[in-house]
Amino acid sequence: MPGADYFSIISDFLVSGNRSMHLGLWDGPPDDDLPAAQARLDAAVLSHAALRSGMVVADVGCGVGGTLARANAVHSQMRLIGINPDAAQLVVAAEIRAQPGSEIRWHHGTAARLPLKDDTVDVVLSVEAAFHFDSRAAFLTEALRVLRPGGRLVLTDIVPTDAMRALGAGPAGVVLAVESLLQRSIGPIPDVWGLCPDWSTLVAAAGGRVLHHRDLTTQTLPSYRCFLTPAQRAGAGWAGRGRLMDEGVSLLEWLQSEGYVQVVLLVITRSMR
Ligand SMILES: C[S@@+](CC[C@H](N)C(=O)[O-])C[C@H]1O[C@@H](n2cnc3c(N)ncnc32)[C@H](O)[C@@H]1O
Repeated sequence: MPGADYFSIISDFLVSGNRSMHLGLWDGPPDDDLPAAQARLDAAVLSHAALRSGMVVADVGCGVGGTLARANAVHSQMRLIGINPDAAQLVVAAEIRAQPGSEIRWHHGTAARLPLKDDTVDVVLSVEAAFHFDSRAAFLTEALRVLRPGGRLVLTDIVPTDAMRALGAGPAGVVLAVESLLQRSIGPIPDVWGLCPDWSTLVAAAGGRVLHHRDLTTQTLPSYRCFLTPAQRAGAGWAGRGRLMDEGVSLLEWLQSEGYVQVVLLVITRSMR
């Protein structure tokens, strides 16, 4: 995995007993309970997935299995499939035990080439992973290929806005500094500046349909205060102990709070073939 320091994320999260490697969601006044907020984000994703007993569910960019673990806890007779290119995360995910009558499998694979047959999946999930994918278009094509008629793709993603596109056309020094820190810390991010088509354009081109679009930018913003110490957030406290990951997270907080990136939840369906 180029860039992303997922080993340090995994060890930090496992120490805290948390399997969620994504932002949290706050419905009310922000507090510091990140695991509860991450559970709310997973709950939002899973409610849009409209899961039922007996479904086949694939989670692309599954991390250490947090979202599938929640689906496994609530539903029975499921076939749950986690897909990730990082073998180390899959080893940790494989600790999750399927409920009696359900099955969980973990596959090494990438979003651009899902190790699944055509028309075999009821729900494709992807939580906060698409900004890492080489191509969102290729992932969408794959997700629509594996979905059964009427099936759903439910994803959250961090997407660049028009302001980010404008920033990317700005002074070379700023562009280089932002790109360099993002790629080295939380990358790979193949489309930092939003030069590729956005989700609605991609979905229309792929013959899919957006059933639901939710902007979670404001409701996820309190996550960063949980990821970073107060000193780091104030711009101090880096010296000697600041990890590259923390610096990247701090930059992402700024980009999100200033409207350069948005956090979106999308529900997409495939049209009849
Ligand atoms: C921010 S983490 C989110 C993990 C998980 N979905 C969660 O919410 O806990 C992003 C995940 O995307 C995975 N990823 C990166 N590139 C990928 C690719 N090309 N295809 C599939 N997954 C990828 C990473 O290994 C990582 O597990």
